[in-house]
Amino acid sequence: MPDFMIYGANGYTGSLIAREAARRGTRPILAGRQVDKIRTLAAELGMEHRVFSLDEPSAVAEGIRGVKVVLHCAGPFSRTSRPMADACLHMGTHYLDITGEEEVFEALAARDAEAKSAGIALLPGVGFDVVPSDCLAVHLKRRLPSATRLALGFQGATAMSRGTSLTVVEGLPKGGLVRENGVLRRVPFAWKTRVIDFGVGAAKAITIPWGDVSTAFYSTAIPNIEFYAAVPWAARVAVRLIRGFGWLLGSRTVQKWLERRIRAGPPGPTDAERRQRRAHFWGEVTDEVGRRAAVRLQTPDGYDLTVLTSLAVVERVLSGAVSPGFQTPGMAFGPDFILEIAGVTRADEPIA
Ligand SMILES: NC(=O)c1ccc[n+]([C@@H]2O[C@H](COP(=O)([O-])OP(=O)(O)OC[C@H]3O[C@@H](n4cnc5c(N)ncnc54)[C@H](OP(=O)(O)O)[C@@H]3O)[C@@H](O)[C@H]2O)c1
Repeated sequence: MPDFMIYGANGYTGSLIAREAARRGTRPILAGRQVDKIRTLAAELGMEHRVFSLDEPSAVAEGIRGVKVVLHCAGPFSRTSRPMADACLHMGTHYLDITGEEEVFEALAARDAEAKSAGIALLPGVGFDVVPSDCLAVHLKRRLPSATRLALGFQGATAMSRGTSLTVVEGLPKGGLVRENGVLRRVPFAWKTRVIDFGVGAAKAITIPWGDVSTAFYSTAIPNIEFYAAVPWAARVAVRLIRGFGWLLGSRTVQKWLERRIRAGPPGPTDAERRQRRAHFWGEVTDEVGRRAAVRLQTPDGYDLTVLTSLAVVERVLSGAVSPGFQTPGMAFGPDFILEIAGVTRADEPIA
């Protein structure tokens, strides 16, 4: 696999992907902003490396020179996506990332025409968020083309990495998010609660501002979208308690305090912890005359899945199997793409 770069390769997720690439005998260029960490990892894995920060546009463009595909793993992407996407558009390099941040999806979707004229794909969300759920959404739309409402959700993903926790904390002040009549709408945390059987027994789930609220609209055109996560009782209570405190969660002092606590913790789940986990997805569509289709999907742990899906997307893009423009994974590769990933199974409920 030539001409492929992992930026943010020294991070928890970037290094999992780099190690799996090495195990498969592929040799991406490893990149990031810290020379010691990137050089050490590249030496260990026998890969080429480049060091550049995202602060100076000409340095980013120079950093990706000659690269066909960038797999961007440096987040929170609210701070990192724009400079990398700018450089990719300028240099004619395909842009992939592992964001789950809806504002990043929206910002990239708005650059569809630019990407088409540059002849590149802008393909964010090639990890746990949103590959399985986006493929599920496209599959549900295929089963019930008249669908006007889409609900998606998961149970039992994994413990969060440092970078994921930092990204979640950054998003806390914004509250929840749903799509109504095609428009994104801010709602309180845990706006709705619903009992869902994700395939392992009924569980209480709450709405969360997951990336599909943005992306599934592009991939299915279904105008009403909610995303649920099954969470334990204590977490549901805690989420409700902080509902009215968005202003406080957004304050610099609280954000810094939370950031310090996260940085003092482990970088992410251990190999053994990840191996023990499975994620259970569920999706449902309904239409105006009351028809309903539902589907369940089981996958490996969220970070292991991110490694597998991101590398599968890179392979597809390098082989030329992607059109220029903004794409979601389900749009680009179809609903059955997720079934090519080891350890994934899907089960349809009959249409009612
Ligand atoms: N969609 C999904 O399913 C999925 C799965 C996994 C992760 N993620 C997301 O991916 C991101 C990374 O997660 P992680 O667990 O790998 O985090 P991590 O271990 O904290 O690593 C973050 C990486 O990003 C780099 N970085 C951060 N800010 C940067 C900036 N302004 N400029 C350049 N590099 C920067 C860091 O570089 P330094 O070491 O130099 O600080 C590091 O390489 C998070 O946003 C997370 O939410 C999403």
